[in-house]
Amino acid sequence: MALIDELKTLNEKTQKLIEDAKNSDELDKVRVAVLGKQGELTAYLRNMGAVAKEERAKVGKAVNEARKSVEGALEQKMSALKAQELEDSISASAVDVTLPGRAQVVGTRHLISKITEEISEVFLGLGYTVVEGPEVETDYYNFEALNAPKDHPSRSMQDTFYIDSETLLRTQTSGVQVHEMERGKLPIYIIAPGKVYRRDVADPSHLPQFTQIEGLVVGKGITFGDLKGTLEFFCKKVFGEDRTTRFRAHYFPFTEPSAEVDVSCGICGGSGCRFCKGTGWSEILGCGMVDPNVLKMSGIDPEVYSGFAFGVGVERVACLKYNVPDLRMLVQGDMRFLNQF
Ligand code: DAH
Repeated sequence: MALIDELKTLNEKTQKLIEDAKNSDELDKVRVAVLGKQGELTAYLRNMGAVAKEERAKVGKAVNEARKSVEGALEQKMSALKAQELEDSISASAVDVTLPGRAQVVGTRHLISKITEEISEVFLGLGYTVVEGPEVETDYYNFEALNAPKDHPSRSMQDTFYIDSETLLRTQTSGVQVHEMERGKLPIYIIAPGKVYRRDVADPSHLPQFTQIEGLVVGKGITFGDLKGTLEFFCKKVFGEDRTTRFRAHYFPFTEPSAEVDVSCGICGGSGCRFCKGTGWSEILGCGMVDPNVLKMSGIDPEVYSGFAFGVGVERVACLKYNVPDLRMLVQGDMRFLNQF
């Protein structure tokens, strides 16, 4: 019964190899070596013909048992190894939930948006309505209807981006006044915030695109006193109760009389410093009584109605309120700067 012993030894050896296999590859090699086409146990099966007739049944049974035993052990070990390998790969790629997270960088509302909103709130509180006008405007609304015909010298105050001879990027929000007056609903109490464009090179005090807030009031009996009271109230609301204002005579084609409004310097308190160029004051807006000609062009009878208008530079307000030394800082998108507000 040498064959039976051989099979027993082979089985034992194989069982040991199966037990020692460290991974599914190693185990597969054992399977091929024993049960594969050229496998040791397969060879016994194949050579059954050479076994003496009377022993064949016994040997055949022993070979089959050995094969079953090897197959069973292989299967068991394989599923154990697979489970282990799965476990290993899961733990290798596992997320460590105890690690501190990476915080998302969250922006803030831009200072210009905030101030636009803040100024709008002041006027909404006074009963004004917020309206908007087009940024691509016609020459008529930006200039002509505002009392600045084609050859008018005041046009040189604003260098314009023209799209064609009649179309331009608005240089001021004042054109919204005309749109509003043409609607013909009186009285008018509106403000119109928005972007404006001028052919300027960016420097500490100029930007080719900036933001204005236009104001317009038209009704019966509106006086310069109403204008002064409104703008003084506005300045104190925006800059603080301790700030004072002064009105300086100025010229705008669409208002008569016209003025520029200065607010006392927030840095030196009015005694004069580098920021206010030694004057103690900083200019923040232009204003005036709507020129009767402008009312007439928009279909409003200047004998019955009068009005005032103003235009505030939002970037200027931002700089004066927060002592920003260079307008360009407002458009560079530097989060370290913007996050302060
Ligand atoms: N549009 C003027 C500018 O851009 C500002 C301005 C001045 C607006 C007087 C007005 C005003 O409504 O009455 O310089």
